[in-house]
Amino acid sequence: MKIAIVGTGYVGLVTGTCLSEVGFDVVCVDINEQKIKTLQNGGCPIYEPGLEDLLRNNIRAGRLTFTTSLESVIADTDVVFSAVGTPPDEDGSADLSYVLEVAHTVGRTMQKHLVLVTKSTVPVGTARKVREAVQEELDRRGVDIPFDVASNPEFLKEGDAIGDFMRPDRIVVGVDSQRAHDIMERIYKPFVLNGHPIIFTDICSAEMIKYTANAMLATRISFMNDIANLCEAVGADVSMVRRGIGADSRIGSKFLYAGIGYGGSCFPKDVKALIHTGEENGCSLDILKSVESINERQKSLLFRKLKEYYHGDLQGKVIAMLGLAFKPNTDDMREAPALVLIDLLLKAGCHVRAYDPVAICECRRRIGDSITYCNNATETFADADALLLVTEWSEFRVLDYDKLTQSMKQAVIFDGRNIYNREEMRQHGIHYFPIGSSPVIPKNQSL
Ligand SMILES: NC(=O)c1ccc[n+]([C@@H]2O[C@H](COP(=O)([O-])OP(=O)(O)OC[C@H]3O[C@@H](n4cnc5c(N)ncnc54)[C@H](O)[C@@H]3O)[C@@H](O)[C@H]2O)c1
Repeated sequence: MKIAIVGTGYVGLVTGTCLSEVGFDVVCVDINEQKIKTLQNGGCPIYEPGLEDLLRNNIRAGRLTFTTSLESVIADTDVVFSAVGTPPDEDGSADLSYVLEVAHTVGRTMQKHLVLVTKSTVPVGTARKVREAVQEELDRRGVDIPFDVASNPEFLKEGDAIGDFMRPDRIVVGVDSQRAHDIMERIYKPFVLNGHPIIFTDICSAEMIKYTANAMLATRISFMNDIANLCEAVGADVSMVRRGIGADSRIGSKFLYAGIGYGGSCFPKDVKALIHTGEENGCSLDILKSVESINERQKSLLFRKLKEYYHGDLQGKVIAMLGLAFKPNTDDMREAPALVLIDLLLKAGCHVRAYDPVAICECRRRIGDSITYCNNATETFADADALLLVTEWSEFRVLDYDKLTQSMKQAVIFDGRNIYNREEMRQHGIHYFPIGSSPVIPKNQSL
């Protein structure tokens, strides 16, 4: 079976590589010539643990190739996975122009039956538009070639994408024909040898499942952030509250961490898009509107705490930031809380020094040299007036506290991910501000 993957971003490249890993013949297509050149030369244009080795092995085995021209490979292809971006439009709806462009290209060039599978996250009703776009081109050509469309939303997490794809909890496939069902089953059988299910649904429900899953996860995060703020106000500790409720099997312990808000390429845009679909269909999704506004508020929380600590005057302060990516193990900075914080800090007259194990290039690409980039944590906090922990990379879990207290102008940590130990902070005389519990201020000192 010959498979084409359109779009070599986090989803497309991982999908193509993993499908070739189990033996399929895969060609990955992208309009970005630079990306394709990098891939053809054996490089990897994104940071994703384990991806580069897997890419190299499958290129060497001759199962994985790259091109900028979908037209040149379509005649031979049995299944096309469309994994192009669906960024938010100005009104919050998903921009489907890339998805529909792929459908038009397929319709213009296909020679035999194929299945066009949408892997991008798209609103309910998109499959119908995709089908219409293909049919329109076939009609224009005056040919009658059968084809199927399918919806196959992706649930991988950046940072653990290979594991998620190779050993998924579940695979969701929306189809409306037995032929598409059988082809998709054949493709995914090698990934569910662990017994996890391939859930076949109608196409509309598959499209809905992806948004509902992301909206639920975003809701859990915003809910805990709201609770965290109340915990601080009443003297409770949100980490203890999380353990207490997470042990309830009806609730479970995942996605209950308080922090500085969700970011990334999915949750923010998917929550927006679902709210928009609700509006279009006369359903006001009020919970999600609150989820969004809580998240916006949370992104600036560390800045507000810092400003209060310095009695409203941050002019000239040197602020150390650990972490830039929206979460650990990725270089992705789309909607990263770090960007909001940097903007607020610079406007308040601060000098920002930052370090991230992999996202510095991406940050520089976005904001240039408006901040100082450092080579490690120790260099970052030297001479700083405060340290903000923004992304919980493993290497930030233990800092050299002796060096920190000696080299910072003021030993104060604002912990946006609750990773430090209160007792340790107290022992080292560090002023410590976590999320969702009271600050630690050494005895005989006050704010
Ligand atoms: N990133 C994630 O963690 C994740 C997880 C699940 C689902 N998704 C969804 O998957 C989709 C892709 O996400 P991503 O993060 O991989 O996006 P991305 O922006 O990293 O990659 C998209 C790629 O598509 C390419 N492209 C655009 N139009 C094209 C065309 N006509 N032909 C060929 N290539 C084209 C772009 O050049 C780009 O390389 C989105 O809908 C997203 O919501 C993303």
